Amino acid sequence: MACGVRISLMVLFLSLPQWCWGGRCPHNCTCYLDDRGRRQIMCARGGMTDPIPIQSMDQQVEVLVITAPYNYSNDLTIGPIFQQFNRLEELHIVRSNIPAIGRHSFWGVPTLQKLNLTHNNISHVLDYNFRGLANLLELHLDDNRIESMPSETFRYLQELRVLSLARNRITKLVPRLFLMLGKLYQLDLSGNRLMELNPDVFKDVQRLRVLRCRGCGLSNINTLIYRLLTDLMYLDLGDNDFKYVASDEFRDLRNLQVLMMDGNQLPVVLERTFGNNGASGGQIDLQTLSLARNRLAKVTATAFENLTTLQELDLSYNKLNRLETTTFLPLAESLRRLKLSGNLISLSEVKYVLQVILKLRDLSLADMGITDVPLGLFVYHEHLRTLNLSGNNFVRFPAQILSPIPKLQEIDLSRNRFRGLDERLILRLEALKTVHLQGNPWVCDVCHLSYMLNYMNKSTFGVAMRELACFSPYSLKGRLLGSLSRSSLSWCTSSDGGLGYMESGGGIVSTNFLAEHSRFGLLAAGAVVLLLLLTAAALLVGIAYSRHHAAHYYTREEQRGPEHEAIFENPAAILGENGDIKYKIVPLDITKPSPRKKKVSISTIDGITKDPEIHSLTNGT
Ligand SMILES: *[C@@H]1O[C@H](CO)[C@@H](O)[C@H](O)[C@H]1NC(C)=O
Ligand SMILES: *[C@@H]1O[C@H](CO)[C@@H](O)[C@H](O)[C@H]1NC(C)=O
Ligand SMILES: *[C@@H]1O[C@H](CO)[C@@H](O)[C@H](O)[C@H]1NC(C)=O
Ligand SMILES: *[C@@H]1O[C@H](CO)[C@@H](O)[C@H](O)[C@H]1NC(C)=O
Ligand SMILES: *[C@@H]1O[C@H](CO)[C@@H](O)[C@H](O)[C@H]1NC(C)=O
Ligand SMILES: *[C@@H]1O[C@H](CO)[C@@H](O)[C@H](O)[C@H]1NC(C)=O
Ligand SMILES: *[C@@H]1O[C@H](CO)[C@@H](O)[C@H](O)[C@H]1NC(C)=O
Repeated sequence: MACGVRISLMVLFLSLPQWCWGGRCPHNCTCYLDDRGRRQIMCARGGMTDPIPIQSMDQQVEVLVITAPYNYSNDLTIGPIFQQFNRLEELHIVRSNIPAIGRHSFWGVPTLQKLNLTHNNISHVLDYNFRGLANLLELHLDDNRIESMPSETFRYLQELRVLSLARNRITKLVPRLFLMLGKLYQLDLSGNRLMELNPDVFKDVQRLRVLRCRGCGLSNINTLIYRLLTDLMYLDLGDNDFKYVASDEFRDLRNLQVLMMDGNQLPVVLERTFGNNGASGGQIDLQTLSLARNRLAKVTATAFENLTTLQELDLSYNKLNRLETTTFLPLAESLRRLKLSGNLISLSEVKYVLQVILKLRDLSLADMGITDVPLGLFVYHEHLRTLNLSGNNFVRFPAQILSPIPKLQEIDLSRNRFRGLDERLILRLEALKTVHLQGNPWVCDVCHLSYMLNYMNKSTFGVAMRELACFSPYSLKGRLLGSLSRSSLSWCTSSDGGLGYMESGGGIVSTNFLAEHSRFGLLAAGAVVLLLLLTAAALLVGIAYSRHHAAHYYTREEQRGPEHEAIFENPAAILGENGDIKYKIVPLDITKPSPRKKKVSISTIDGITKDPEIHSLTNGT
């Protein structure tokens, strides 16, 4: 056969997809060399029925994959049909509705190293299913209907390193189930309602490095297990029902690098839970810790004491409303990724925490109800690469906030309240690799989109803007920005003045969504009349107020009661017991302008750059 010639050709033309040998490739399958140069047959069309066309498969196949689209599965059974493939290393039969593995299906296929039977209908597994697989390294049985497995089920698989049984119907691990799996280092039991783990079972797998039991209905772990599994590096106990973790819970897991406890019900992280204290144990190497989606209201000041290796900390979607700076002191040198999303911690407090951890690369502050970012927030965070501010209340976002972070690559501003973007921000965002802006109420008229339209076709960012959908006016709702042309847009459909705050220096006037449905002309005429009326009314009110005010000012002395006195002498009396609501309090002195007005005046770009606080910060570096 001309195979030799074809192979050398293949070396020349590396992209040649089919391999040569005799053209024996089954119908509806593709045959090629995989990225490791192995001969692979892939049948992925779906709808296959018995028998598996092994007669038309080449005996030299090394990787055989039979799978199907999720909505067009195969209907297959397997038996002792693979013996003829004497070089088979990997066998994947997935989404094929296989009901059972069969008595001696793999007898005589000693070359097999990886067996993948995920997404089938297997309900029972027995030891003879695996006879002959003396060299198998990986067995994947996830997403079947396995209910029970007797002791010693895997006893023929003495070389096995990876066993995954996720999302079956296993409710109990019988003693000695894992007998002979002394070399196993990765075990996945996630998605089985086990409710508890029996330490005896783990006596046979003491070399385990990775253990996953996510969504197992566990409310605690017998710490005897940790004492057996001292090599554990990765422990995933997410989405369980832990309500309590003792401060010495993980003491024996000295090699732990990743701990996932997200999606539990922990109310507090106790003192010294994750610290390492050398001689008496602790997580010397812990690098990743997730405590997201618990009920944490408090993280104690010493929770991470001595935990100087932690790089990634996820505290998102808890009930935290404050953080203590001291909690983060041990992490100052190591922490690279911090997620605080979904907590109601005020940014002024976050700011103090950030001043401790200066080497951050990724920061998530999504869903925190933020309307304004203090301009100096990131002055010390030049290493920041990604910033997630999704799901907040931004109407505008001064581009200067991003000036101190030149290495920023990705920002998520989705699900905010942007109606349009100003030119300065567009220019800054253009310099980033990835910008998320979907889910904002984009107002598709010229006064909101003017700048965006100018940049629409200019850069990758501009092209990405084309995929955003209009929120209003009603007639354009759901239309993609890329499908609009400037001439088809009306001038201003919303009475918020568009991006006028850029030029006029005023704040954004509150939205009037009702107006958006009316015709532009009508609206304009109405607006003029309204404006006149308002001006007149304002004048009248102004005059009346100044008179009344003068009178009120003089009478206030007498009206001040004993409570008022108390407040003036002891400001703590009006603060909450934790004293953390201070800036929510409106000053009682009505002679001063309200704080809201003040915010507007410094929220213009020029006002911001003149903010004395920022100046001192930027000058300080
Ligand atoms: C190939 O797929 C088509 C349509 O999916 C089917 O009609 C045909 O019988 C298949 N051929 C073989 C040999 O399975
Ligand atoms: C499966 O789903 C895809 C897209 O979701 C669809 O195009 C296809 O027609 C579906 N096939 C069958 C057999 O339902
Ligand atoms: C099992 O096979 C399916 C289908 O080819 C594949 O998507 C999946 O990644 C495989 N699983 C493993 C662990 O190799
Ligand atoms: C899976 O197997 C059970 C019997 O164990 C059977 O009742 C069920 O119909 C099978 N499911 C499918 C999709 O064939
Ligand atoms: C932290 O380290 C110091 C000194 O190495 C030690 O005295 C202290 O007990 C440690 N704290 C914890 C919680 O391990
Ligand atoms: C930002 O955070 C939100 C909410 O937690 C999340 O859904 C989104 O995927 C994150 N964005 C990126 C780019 O990771
Ligand atoms: C962008 O280019 C497309 C064609 O590629 C064009 O239809 C569209 O009008 C352009 N948009 C703007 C705002 O220039």
